[in-house]
Parts: sequence; C-alpha cells; structure tokens
Amino acid sequence: MLVWVVYESRLGNTAALAQAIAGALAREHRVRLLPVEEAGPPSGVDLLIIGCPHHRHHQPDGILSWLFKLPPRVVQDLNCGVFEIRYKRHHFWQGESAATLIWRRLQGLGGKPMLKPVSFYLQHRGRLLPESEIERGAAWAAALARKAVGGRVKAPVIHAGDHIWT
Ligand SMILES: Cc1cc2nc3c(=O)[nH]c(=O)nc-3n(C[C@H](O)[C@H](O)[C@H](O)COP(=O)(O)O)c2cc1C
Repeated sequence: MLVWVVYESRLGNTAALAQAIAGALAREHRVRLLPVEEAGPPSGVDLLIIGCPHHRHHQPDGILSWLFKLPPRVVQDLNCGVFEIRYKRHHFWQGESAATLIWRRLQGLGGKPMLKPVSFYLQHRGRLLPESEIERGAAWAAALARKAVGGRVKAPVIHAGDHIWT
C-alpha cells in the first residue's frame, strides 16, 4: 500500500509525530512523508494521513488551502485519517478542533475517513509531545493502515518514480 503522511507544523511536534507514524508504517508499506508546503495532489495513494496542530484562533491554514487547491475528485473515495496535536484541556475559546475541520473538508471532497479524527496531547504546561503520545500515534496509524488494507480489493501497484521514505 502507498501511504502519504502530510503534515503542517510550526513548532515541530506535529512533524515529530508524523515522522514516527511514517517510520512505523514504513515497515510494511511504501510511505511518503511530506510537509504540506511540499505536497502536490496525492496520486496512486491508498491511505492519506493528515496531521496538524490545534492553535487558538489559527485554523490549520496550510492543510486547508492544500485541500482547497486539489483538483476535483483527487480525494474522492480515498482512505483518510486525521490527527492533531493540542493541549489536553479544551476551552470554548480555543475554537473548533483543527482535525475536525480537516475531517469535514475531506468528507466534503468525497474522502473516506477511516477512523474518527484523533488528538494527541502535550504534557500539562509542557511544550513537547511525550513519548507515550508518540507511541499512541504510531499505534493509531497502524490500526488505520490495517483498516485500509482490509478494505482493499485490488492488488498493490508500484508507481514509477515514487519516492520511498525510509
Ligand atoms: C500561539 C499558539 C496558540 C496555541 N493555541 C492552542 C489552543 O488554543 N489549544 C490547544 O490545545 N493548543 C494550543 N497551542 C499548542 C499547540 O497545539 C502546540 O504548541 C503544538 O505543539 C503545535 O504543533 P507544532 O509543534 O507542530 O507546531 C497553541 C500554541 C501556540 C504557539
């Protein structure tokens, strides 16, 4: 299966988790790890994983504008998963979950979100994502991949020129 892990990150935590997810999935799948600034339209992708931070008053602009710019039907029927990094406590003034916004956009484009969007939490008052959350993220992605493989009916396809992340 070809998996794309596309992420937006300002302070590095989403990038760290995206990298851990890509590393875990690369044991069994071909994986491309892409900061959203470098991502084009997904092509030949079997599972698209999107990660972003939740920032008060800031939507995940990079991911949302990437999704808005995609050609029609590129995401249609594509298996997807979305994660976000955030503080554990949620207050109303923090706005709507970034992952939920992306999730809705994916559904609007006809994507097939496989599991509910998931949040991974910073330590209380901490700035770094704890190792336990990194492990939880890798396990979540593995479950997503298992579900995507279970839903597949066609044989794996090798795409010439695919970059394989290691
Ligand atoms: C300006 C700013 C605002 C933030 N607002 C929120 C917030 O409202 N809710 C929340 O859960 N986390 C908030 N965070 C925490 C971020 O989700 C956290 O720093 C995360 O690590 C950012 O992801 P990144 O490291 O990939 O950039 C905020 C962080 C910054 C810098």
